[in-house]
Amino acid sequence: MHIRQAKKAGWIILVVLLAIQLIRPARNTSGQVLTTDIKNSIPVPVNVQVLLQTTCYDCHSNHTNYPWYANLQPVGWLLNNHVQNGKKQLNFSDFGSYSTRRQLSKLKAIGSQIQDGEMPLLSYTWMHSNAKLRKEDKIVLINWARQAMDSISVKNLKNG
Ligand code: HEC
Repeated sequence: MHIRQAKKAGWIILVVLLAIQLIRPARNTSGQVLTTDIKNSIPVPVNVQVLLQTTCYDCHSNHTNYPWYANLQPVGWLLNNHVQNGKKQLNFSDFGSYSTRRQLSKLKAIGSQIQDGEMPLLSYTWMHSNAKLRKEDKIVLINWARQAMDSISVKNLKNG
């Protein structure tokens, strides 16, 4: 490539990079704790709540704490994608509105995703080292999910 062409290509890239900065996805930052929040529907001990909040809520609730680089596109688009997909699959803010069957299947999935080290997403823990689950944290969360499933099943046996 000639120098003149390289310069032109450089300018085009710069203009495109600047232009995409203007396209910002809406932020997922509701301050409200809904009545359907998981902690209003099943017992969530404080230590479990803290773990969920620091390692899952950014992608699985109505409130994300955004890092500064979410302001840079296309990184912000990528994060938005994670939040939208994560919430679609499991939203702790809406958990109480799920059917019993869905609640049970989500709790089961939580246990297996954590057990298999699939969640939180690797790309997330790279950037958020405080969100890495230690072995003992995993045990706490897995046991909690199992107990929660039992309590939901028992409640339904009684009601049904
Ligand atoms: C960086 C965003 C992010 C974080 C943090 C995160 N998840 Fe996810 N999660 C996702 C996305 C995106 C999906 C959708 C499936 C996929 O792409 O793997 C998902 C899927 C899931 C599913 C599958 C739901 C189903 O029905 O199959 C479960 C369960 C889950 N996450 C639990 C958790 C738990 C528990 C934590 C915290 C320990 C967590 N996730 C942290 C983004 C995240």
